[in-house]
Amino acid sequence: MQKILDYLENNQTRHMAELCDYLRFASVSAQPQHKKDLLACAKWLVAHCRQIGLDARLCPTAGHPIVVAKTRRTKNSKKPHFMVYGHYDVQPPEPLDLWTTPPFEPRIAGRNLFARGSTDNKGQNFAHLKAVEAYLKTGTPLPCDLTFVIEGEEEVGSKSLSGFLKQHRKELTCDAIVVSDTGMPAPNCPALTYALRGIIAFEITLHGPARDLHSGIFGGAVENPAMALAQLLAKVRDNNGRVKIPGFYAGVAPLSKYEREQIKRYPLPDAKLKKLLGAKELFGEHGFTTTEQRSSRPTFEINGLTSGYQGEGSKTIVPAWARAKITCRLVPNQKPAHFRRTVCDWLKKNCPPTVRMEINAGHGAEAYLVSPTSKPAQAALRALEKAFGAKPILMREGGSIPIVNEFKKVLGADTLLLGIGLPDDNAHSPDEKFNLDCFKNGQRMSAFLWQELK
Ligand code: BES
Ligand code: MN
Repeated sequence: MQKILDYLENNQTRHMAELCDYLRFASVSAQPQHKKDLLACAKWLVAHCRQIGLDARLCPTAGHPIVVAKTRRTKNSKKPHFMVYGHYDVQPPEPLDLWTTPPFEPRIAGRNLFARGSTDNKGQNFAHLKAVEAYLKTGTPLPCDLTFVIEGEEEVGSKSLSGFLKQHRKELTCDAIVVSDTGMPAPNCPALTYALRGIIAFEITLHGPARDLHSGIFGGAVENPAMALAQLLAKVRDNNGRVKIPGFYAGVAPLSKYEREQIKRYPLPDAKLKKLLGAKELFGEHGFTTTEQRSSRPTFEINGLTSGYQGEGSKTIVPAWARAKITCRLVPNQKPAHFRRTVCDWLKKNCPPTVRMEINAGHGAEAYLVSPTSKPAQAALRALEKAFGAKPILMREGGSIPIVNEFKKVLGADTLLLGIGLPDDNAHSPDEKFNLDCFKNGQRMSAFLWQELK
């Protein structure tokens, strides 16, 4: 093991430079104009995996390609088999003017590496690749067989990967999946995440008059769809954010005393969080701590709100339509299809007769919950402690990784969520960054993990 740790220590400068190369691809899966950049990024990744000593291939899909890379193995290998999952696609970088330096020109400042995708998720999956490189380049036998699956559609719902799993079930069947695509509270506080929230996404459009109208000539006598939408959405919650839609909290299991104690160990005081987020005040459903609110309670969020004139100056119109992009986060026991019906039926029922409501359904996924006391989870906790030199905490995360449910359904395997992102990494925001200590200790964690899991 020492040989591997020395290798990692001695090669950090190169590892950072290579991560910068990986980050230069503008692999924005949501934007069609970047299709070529995704392909180029996937090709770079395949070449890099081969250089490390993995058998790698590019798997084209109806969407963006999937990269599969495996350690060489004997034909009837009896070693345990683990899959490492990650994604090379990134969120759109806009608004560009809020970045200190351009999103696809990586910049190192102190112990931070700034670039879109640095923490979510290139830096995190690259840490695993560098750990396996250390095994292969030092000639240290790996105690298990590894398959890396790095996809290009995570940020848009992993549509192609779901079918890919079914098609390649035999090849991908494994003892567990390892995913570093979540967070940890601080560089000296590693974490094992044992739950993720689920999600449903949809768009509501309220259609008013057939075209934008002069608001002086007609205003007052015809419904304003923006006002109607504002009134409808305002009815969704009370002033503390508790959602008033009947059935919204149905089936939500109360947190056990043990869980509430674990959640309390999360070392980010409210005052610090408030400052970090630049919020005037924290806010939320009564009876739950901040950490509980953002990890273990369902939510209803407006992600985008559009209507009428958005340009400079004023334009006196009654807009023809108003639209809201909405996602709800789900917790264990809530079924996306049923939940969607509960929410959308309520919205329809409460829509005033003066407008026509159109609802377009988006993606959906169940929450994920896995035992933190299983043998693999205990092994992961040991690896985290050795790598970071501190006792890991157990946590639930508020974000979603829909594909982990498919891993369970299709491959029958649980996922170990070993995230190395920090709360101030600005995932999905301008000036996204990745902490280089998390990068280095993440590589060490991955190296220890294969020893502990065997
Ligand atoms: N890495 C995140 C998910 C995440 C972040 C989980 C932090 C836990 C903590 C992932 O890339 C992501 O952003 N997922 C989307 C899912 C959606 C697009 C279906 C999310 O959570 O919004
Ligand atoms: Mn993301």
